[in-house]
Amino acid sequence: MRIAVLKERAPGESRVALTPETAKKFIALGAGVAVEEGAGLGASIADDDYAQAGAEVLPGPKAVENADIVMGVQAPDVAALEGAKPGAWVAATFDPFRERDRVDAYAKGGFEALAMEFMPRITRAQSMDVLSSQSNLAGYKAVITAANEYGRAFPMMMTAAGTVQAAKVFVMGVGVAGLQAIATAKRLGAQVSATDVRSATREQIQSLGAKAVFVEDVEGIEGEGSGGYATEMSEEYQKAQAELVSSHIAKQDIVITTALIPGKPAPRLISDAQIASMKQGSVIFDLAVAQGGNVEGSQPDETVEKHGVKIVGYSNTAGHLAADASALFARNLYNFLSAFWDEEAGKPVLDAEIGEAVRLTQGGKVVNERLLPIKEST
Ligand code: NAI
Repeated sequence: MRIAVLKERAPGESRVALTPETAKKFIALGAGVAVEEGAGLGASIADDDYAQAGAEVLPGPKAVENADIVMGVQAPDVAALEGAKPGAWVAATFDPFRERDRVDAYAKGGFEALAMEFMPRITRAQSMDVLSSQSNLAGYKAVITAANEYGRAFPMMMTAAGTVQAAKVFVMGVGVAGLQAIATAKRLGAQVSATDVRSATREQIQSLGAKAVFVEDVEGIEGEGSGGYATEMSEEYQKAQAELVSSHIAKQDIVITTALIPGKPAPRLISDAQIASMKQGSVIFDLAVAQGGNVEGSQPDETVEKHGVKIVGYSNTAGHLAADASALFARNLYNFLSAFWDEEAGKPVLDAEIGEAVRLTQGGKVVNERLLPIKEST
């Protein structure tokens, strides 16, 4: 059983899917581990660190040779897999709805693509969930970046020269990233409020000491769909939300938006007119910018200035904390593969629940339900 890890191919990707810690653990399970030269540099891991952990450090094509499993943060194009065993598994994020051609190419190449972002939200898979581990860090980094762009302080300070007011921070979307954003902003001393379409978040917001801002008395208020994710909201709800946000946002200094709906473009939460209502010098961090953006006019990896408000968003926020993001991502992959390790077979054997959820391709075909055309009922 050979596990290979390539240097990430996507532009700007600084993370890596293996750390010396997880290399050692895979070797202890009986696997051979090969890493492409320089794979860890973006995450401050030297080739030597991998070698000391017992991994072979090789040039790209050699690293992948005879691999049974290839691990990545973002799945590479199939060309990078040349030399891997027929039917090899590739465990990585695939962005399957937007990168459908790549998924088809994996099927054609006979590889088994395992999409880590399709990990089901069940208790036993929590430690395997890359969306959670990366969103958590992203929520923290969004607040730190916004604080850095903001020309004022976050905490209230009483000084001999007078009082500095606490910053008002509003978090929109209270999933994993939003909760960490609230906690980080609180730690920095800001006055924090937050909103979501899922009413279950109200208590979570309050338990972090922030104020919950919610649309009330609107038909279809419960926005929770399957797996704890949000659903798209009714027109009536969206109108009520826009009104509520408009009055609240004008009083905020920092807004962090994190709203996502799986398989759909990010919902638009802040319009140009709402940006114009904000105070000069305010900062918006759009964590959903890579999925189409929650904020009108936000651009990935650019600071856009509109009506005196700075709008910031990264295409890969967790990648800005590459060392921690890689450590958590690598542990997610280890937790996943080791949980299914079959000692007799000397390799992982997935069970039906998790296997069917994450497997995109098998036996030359796209097999994942979420990617197949919806069957018409007869
Ligand atoms: P996400 O990244 O898909 O979305 C972020 C947040 O945006 C969500 O809270 C969503 O409700 C909210 N949102 C969507 N549309 C919105 C709108 N129009 N206005 C305001 N907010 C909007 O969500 P994430 O972080 O993946 O978490 C979703 C849920 O899954 C949470 O309840 C989380 O606790 C749960 N979860 C469960 C896990 C498990 O049991 N294994 C692991 C990770 C998360």
